[in-house]
Amino acid sequence: MPRLVIVSNRVALPRQTSTGGLGSAMHAATREQGGLWFGWSGKLAEHSGAVLHRQQHEQVDYVTMDLSRTDHDQYYAGFANRALWPLFHYRAGLVEYRRANMEGYLRVNELFADRLLPLLQPDDTIWVHDYHLIPLGALLRQRGVANRIGFFLHTPLPAAGLLIALPRHQELLGSLASYHLVGLHTERDQRALDDYFLHEAGARRLADGRLQDAAGACFRTRAFPISIDTGKVARQAERASRGLKIRQLRDSLGTRALVIGVDRLDYSKGLPERFKAYGRLLDRQAGLRKQVSFLQIAPHSRDTVPEYRQLRHQLERSAGHINGRYAEPDWTPISYVNRSFPHQLLTGYYRVARVGLVTPLRDGMNLVAKEYIASQDALDPGVLVLSRFAGAAQELDSALLVNPSDTEEVTEALETALSMPLQERQRRWRPMYEHLCRYDVNYWCKDFLDTLRQQPTGAIAPATV
Ligand code: F6P
Repeated sequence: MPRLVIVSNRVALPRQTSTGGLGSAMHAATREQGGLWFGWSGKLAEHSGAVLHRQQHEQVDYVTMDLSRTDHDQYYAGFANRALWPLFHYRAGLVEYRRANMEGYLRVNELFADRLLPLLQPDDTIWVHDYHLIPLGALLRQRGVANRIGFFLHTPLPAAGLLIALPRHQELLGSLASYHLVGLHTERDQRALDDYFLHEAGARRLADGRLQDAAGACFRTRAFPISIDTGKVARQAERASRGLKIRQLRDSLGTRALVIGVDRLDYSKGLPERFKAYGRLLDRQAGLRKQVSFLQIAPHSRDTVPEYRQLRHQLERSAGHINGRYAEPDWTPISYVNRSFPHQLLTGYYRVARVGLVTPLRDGMNLVAKEYIASQDALDPGVLVLSRFAGAAQELDSALLVNPSDTEEVTEALETALSMPLQERQRRWRPMYEHLCRYDVNYWCKDFLDTLRQQPTGAIAPATV
């Protein structure tokens, strides 16, 4: 089987705790066939890419490079996370476009291409991930790479009308045509991309369903909803629930119901709206006070981006306000924790929680929703309250689906969840769990890679970026 080469901004190095879904998904992909995983080391150095750090673990070579402060600030913090991230999450008002940042983004993508090139073998299958590296495929083609290359976008993709607001969008998004296969989480995201190519980029649809851009490059787009290692998560949760920490949590809760939220601290996750809905619940239902506790775990992320720092302050105020208003000497309504926890322990928390509250304003998929379902005890499952705007809502449709901006709707869903009888909890949980058992992360990887390997090679124009 050809070697798999994964390229992503972050690399989940062996023995490193990873919070992201990409880590577990890629470990699953490389476990069987071996390969190479290339990306940023997560560290800064005086010069970008001056040294390649290498380590090997279970048939996989991990190769990473450092970035200079300027490259980090322009490529990662500046363009990827202040222009593309808000735009792709439908937050045009937060887009901060600077030409220097886009130049830095292209420069770092060039560097990725230059450093990766000597590591490639002719029959490698290359899989590029996420919005940090959109032009990489085209840059590899310019350097003569004819291998099968696939791309997967881990964020949502908004409608073409929003995408064209990005300066030089033709250059950036048009470069996607250099891949053989472009995967997105949902059909809605795929439709947005197709629509962009067909109506804004002069592409046409071929008889076999692929798109052909104006320069003649042919590529396929398709939805591949990412998933989790369902069996592993279920086993972890079961094991964790017997551990000391979870027993202590159960003891401290007594008869109180736990509501849990676990998110990277990001404005796309709808945390201020979520806190507001929980505050409204305590306001409306005095009888629920002291009967419920809300644990929100939100590790800080992207601290160099100003919008994230503002959000931190906003949430600290909001949690303080709720606790100041409703807390009793023997009850804290909301525990707001900004650090990450070992994955196994998290699955134990999910299992204890009567409600999983997952209410992003927009999310590509949201694997917390899937892990919450996988972690439940079949005899006494909890209830998932899930935003309609998380990709996961397309599959987890027997969750209580809400519009996160509608405070009343979220509050009512919390009330419904907290009083839901066992039978209904089981009736809702069972099909979601079975779905996740069938469509797990291994299915996702195999489906993407099989589809990529089926794509005809050749006829890829050496696109310009
Ligand atoms: O959701 C997109 C994503 O790139 C995930 O793949 C990843 O878990 C997360 O964002 C992490 O973001 P960052 O690398 O900026 O900390």
